[in-house]
Amino acid sequence: MTTVAIFASGSGSNAEQIIRRLAARPQVRCLVLSNRPDAYVLERAARLGVPARVFTREEFYQTGQVLAYLQAQAVDLVVLAGFLWLVPAPLVQAFPGRIVNIHPALLPRHGGKGMYGAKVHTAVLATGDRQSGITIHYVNEQYDEGQIIRQVACPVLPTDTPDTLAARVHELEYAHYPQVVEQLLAQLPG
Ligand code: GAR
Repeated sequence: MTTVAIFASGSGSNAEQIIRRLAARPQVRCLVLSNRPDAYVLERAARLGVPARVFTREEFYQTGQVLAYLQAQAVDLVVLAGFLWLVPAPLVQAFPGRIVNIHPALLPRHGGKGMYGAKVHTAVLATGDRQSGITIHYVNEQYDEGQIIRQVACPVLPTDTPDTLAARVHELEYAHYPQVVEQLLAQLPG
């Protein structure tokens, strides 16, 4: 059995795409973790029959309970899908090369602390970039700085609003993130 833990802070549309893709594989199970008790991803998880757990800042950064939970569940791969908090060093070190994130822009542009969701798209438009896209990368101890696994670009149109750009970027995310997760699972040792 291979276990994938998906962390999400908000809507969880990427989480849902990944869960749906992996549902075709009986030997893979998903878990959802969220730092927000009101995150819509929890409703998605319930609808999809995926176990979900909400955790506090203290459990994530101080008591090690989130790390202990991942280890107790024998998690093989951690997937951040719209997750807001910086991953603490002990968790990064416990899962070397096994934590991935998706960022809705072409890193290193428009990344770093606080650059999340609509804020990223607003920054892209404000800068006048002609293209944006997605970056899927390994997670290290800094925001958005781990080794890049895949980057895919899309155009930024003169008529774009943050919402229209977000919709175009989301389509790229849905096309690529589940596929990259599957590729990483295929590469896991053992
Ligand atoms: C996604 O666009 C993801 O790339 C972004 O949050 C959105 C979550 O949407 N992540 C970041 O901005 C990380 N810095 P979702 O909850 O519908 O999957």
